Amino acid sequence: MKVFITGASSGIGAALATEYAKRHPGAGTCIGLASRRSECLHELQTILEKNYQIKCAVYPLDVRDSVALNTAAADFIQRFGSPHVVIASAGVSRGTLTEFAEDHAAFQAVLDINLLGMLHTFQPFISAMRQNKNRKLRGQLVGIASVAGIRGLPGAGAYSASKAAVIAYLESLRVEMAASKIAVTTIAPGYIRTPMTDVNQYKMPFLLDADVAAAKFVNAIEHKRRFVVIPWQMGWIARLMWFIPPVLWDFVMKKAPYKKRLYWDWL
Ligand SMILES: NC(=O)c1ccc[n+]([C@@H]2O[C@H](COP(=O)([O-])OP(=O)(O)OC[C@H]3O[C@@H](n4cnc5c(N)ncnc54)[C@H](OP(=O)(O)O)[C@@H]3O)[C@@H](O)[C@H]2O)c1
Repeated sequence: MKVFITGASSGIGAALATEYAKRHPGAGTCIGLASRRSECLHELQTILEKNYQIKCAVYPLDVRDSVALNTAAADFIQRFGSPHVVIASAGVSRGTLTEFAEDHAAFQAVLDINLLGMLHTFQPFISAMRQNKNRKLRGQLVGIASVAGIRGLPGAGAYSASKAAVIAYLESLRVEMAASKIAVTTIAPGYIRTPMTDVNQYKMPFLLDADVAAAKFVNAIEHKRRFVVIPWQMGWIARLMWFIPPVLWDFVMKKAPYKKRLYWDWL
C-alpha cells in the first residue's frame, strides 16, 4: 500500500497515516508524510516504522509551495512508485470578519492553504498515476473538505469559502479524472477532536475522536465513495443545510457561535 498524506503532523492527517499502517503492516506499505513541522513528522515516522514495520518518507514543506510539492512527489514516486492514494488533509481554520482590514491576510492564507494547497498536492501525482499498469483503478485522490463548506458559517467566511471551493473543485476533478481511472473522493467531516477544534469553546455536536474518524475515512476511501459526510449524523444535517432557503438559514444562524479571531504565526 502506498499513500501520500499532507497535514500528517497532527490531527486527521496523522490519524490517517496511523490507520493505514495498522491496516497494512509490513515492508510493503510506504507512507509519505508531509506538512511544515518536521519534528512532528519524524516522531510519527519513528512510531509507525517501529510499531508496524512500514516505511515512511518525511517531507517537511508548506503546501502553498508548489515547487516543494513537485519535489516531494518526484522523490516519493522514484523511491516507492506511483501512490495508490494521495490525501490532501493540510488545512487551517481561523475566525475572520470582512470588516477588519487586518483579516485580509488571514483570508488569503486560508484560501491559499486549503484550496490551492490541495491542487499543489494532487497535480504532481496525476501523470504518474495515469501510467499505472492497473487498468481498473490507477490511483485515488482524496480531499478533506468540511461541512462548513456546504453553507457559509458566520464568523468563518474564509474557512467556509475555502471549503465550499474545495467541494466544487473536487467535483470538477472527479469528472475530469474518470476517463483516466483515477478515483476522486471528497470527505466532508463534521467535528473531529484535533488541535483545530481544541480551541473551540462552543458545543460541537457528534464530535468524533481522530482515530475513530480516521477508520471511517479509510473505509470510505476503500469503498471509493465520491462524496461522504462523516459522521453520518452530520450527513443528515448537511442535507438539511443544503435544502433550507436563505431566509431560514439566516434565522437559524442568528445565534450561531463565532470562531475566535486569533492571530496565528502561520500567516
Ligand atoms: N477537526 C475537524 O473538526 C475538521 C472538520 C472538518 C474539516 N477538517 C479539515 O481536516 C483537515 C485536517 O485538520 P485537523 O482537524 O486534523 O487539524 P490540525 O490538527 O490542525 O491539522 C492540520 C494539519 O495541516 C497542516 N498544515 C497547516 N497549514 C499547512 C501548510 N501551510 N503547509 C503544510 N501543512 C499545513 C498542519 O501541519 P503543520 O502545522 O506541521 O504544517 C497539520 O498537520 C483540514 O483540512 C481541516 O480543514 C477538520
